[in-house]
Amino acid sequence: MPGLLENFGNTVRDHEEFLTFKPIVSKTSGRAKLNHGSGSITDFDESAIFPGRFRKTKKSDKMQKESEKMLKKTSLIEERVISSGTDKEDATFDVSLRPQRLSDFIGQENIKESLRIFLQAAKTRGESIDHILFYGPPGIGKTSLANIIAKEIGVNIKATSGPAIERTGDLAALLTNLEPNDVLFIDEVHRLPRIVEEVLYPAMEDWSIDIMLGKGPGARSVKLDLPRFTLIGATTRYAALSSPLRDRFGTVYRLDYYDLEEIQKIIKRSGRILDVATDPGAAVEIAQRSRRTPRIANRLLRRCRDYAQVKGDGVITQDIAERALDLLAVDRLGLDENDRRVLKTIIEQFSGGPVGIQTLAAATSEEIDTIEDIYEPYLMRIGFLNRTPKGRVATPQAYEHLKLSTPRRLL
Ligand SMILES: Nc1ncnc2c1ncn2[C@@H]1O[C@H](COP(=O)(O)OP(=O)(O)OP(=O)(O)O)[C@@H](O)[C@H]1O
Ligand SMILES: [Mg+2]
Repeated sequence: MPGLLENFGNTVRDHEEFLTFKPIVSKTSGRAKLNHGSGSITDFDESAIFPGRFRKTKKSDKMQKESEKMLKKTSLIEERVISSGTDKEDATFDVSLRPQRLSDFIGQENIKESLRIFLQAAKTRGESIDHILFYGPPGIGKTSLANIIAKEIGVNIKATSGPAIERTGDLAALLTNLEPNDVLFIDEVHRLPRIVEEVLYPAMEDWSIDIMLGKGPGARSVKLDLPRFTLIGATTRYAALSSPLRDRFGTVYRLDYYDLEEIQKIIKRSGRILDVATDPGAAVEIAQRSRRTPRIANRLLRRCRDYAQVKGDGVITQDIAERALDLLAVDRLGLDENDRRVLKTIIEQFSGGPVGIQTLAAATSEEIDTIEDIYEPYLMRIGFLNRTPKGRVATPQAYEHLKLSTPRRLL
């Protein structure tokens, strides 16, 4: 689940920004084109390039439904303290706590090492870097790395997200507004509409796009040359990415959950930035309950800081951290009521599984997407849940953690 609120924010800002840009039309070739092959923009919206002359069209029903679904998910994320998505408060803190350079970015050593070489080589040659795709769970550092890359090579970054680019004209407006070597960051890149994706292919490969101007017999195609840019895509669902798009990224990095030590370092770093004293024992306590995810670690740290200010003398000791986190009902493995409810449903109502995702969603009154994107990845990661062709199955470790007796067949 990507940082919805944060990305909505960026998207809206960028959208407004690119709606006001001046088009570079002098480089057009003006070729006539009758059949609209792949890569040409057929639903080109001139209002994106000539703002003020056209009224914005209403969102299609499909888009409307998509946005409602996203908002529903967002509100669920906001309610959960251990959710790895972004809430409003996170959006503010994400910016202040976000590492600015590769040297501030903790962990993911292999990726950093590879990026260092990659960036150095591109800098030496004075060229743009190859397109990069980051994938991994929410709150793990994808957006941070995209920003760091732009900063390290000293170029601008324009951020948007897949669902925000509704029409090919939106993409054209974004692309033609880039400076040479700039980074275009597309979050949730797996949710780009297919028709937009097809325009992106030639842009990524040949740095040009074809757009159709006008309609009917008078329609003509113009080829727009683009500056050499770098596309950085981020996704929480690698498998949902179409394979032609996947193939066009020169480098693909998978970001994994952090280890405990790295999370502790992140907590200490954030503590310094937030100016709150944190005992080493407290950092361990918070790290253990943070689902190995930096965004959650930062959020739990802030809750502990509040608790320390009200109930203590401002210092986060281990005792304060334990009490604050118990109050939030986040257990020692970072599970909250919702995770426990999903596990208990599988165990108590379906004898431990296998249970199909649709049945599980109905039994827990959750959306399928929510279970798949929010609860499941971490439960699988800690070995509490297995996905089998027949459905979801609770493991003996889950029984043990919930203090339920493990059935003999599982022993
Ligand atoms: N390696 C790291 N070192 C220090 N802080 C980190 C690191 N990774 C992430 N963070 C912190 O976690 C926050 C969330 O990270 P980020 O927004 O980059 O996650 P993301 O993977 O883009 O999430 P989403 O999928 O929700 O968009 C950042 O603001 C930063 O404070
Ligand atoms: Mg992000």
